[in-house]
Amino acid sequence: MHEILVLNGPNLNLLGLREPGVYGTMNLAQIEGRLRELAAELGVGLRFFQSNHEGALIDELHAGIGRCAGAIFNPGAYTHTSVALRDAIAAVKYPVVEVHLSNVHAREEFRKVSMVAAVCAGTVSGFGWHSYELALRAVTGILADHAERQIRDERLA
Ligand code: DQA
Repeated sequence: MHEILVLNGPNLNLLGLREPGVYGTMNLAQIEGRLRELAAELGVGLRFFQSNHEGALIDELHAGIGRCAGAIFNPGAYTHTSVALRDAIAAVKYPVVEVHLSNVHAREEFRKVSMVAAVCAGTVSGFGWHSYELALRAVTGILADHAERQIRDERLA
């Protein structure tokens, strides 16, 4: 069974309390519960990690090498600032989908810049907690396509 890393960056531990008008009223544990249900449906396993520290997020991405088939990642405010996270995502071989609860393009100018977008498989932004569901479906779809392609290539070899 594929293991997918669900990675959350700074201040996302405060979901539910934090600016509910922007980020919604579900807390992180509730979102993780919904993702667990979806993962069971999709036949994948999940590993959850949240940290307010850039280095800890980098360590977790590295720890996913050889263990995780893919990741969904909300880097929080580090999205807009962190070259180190961008380099970590570029360094790992598994696909990473960038996630945001809010529509970052409809907010302040500085949120329109993502340091990580170009090294991610894609971005889901603006659908509240559903962004996580969509991102999990996206990364699972990418992995299914990879597997299918591999089978086809092996047949042709
Ligand atoms: C966020 C958007 C970021 O700009 C912000 O700093 C966050 C949350 C989102 O999920 O909408 O912390 O990543």
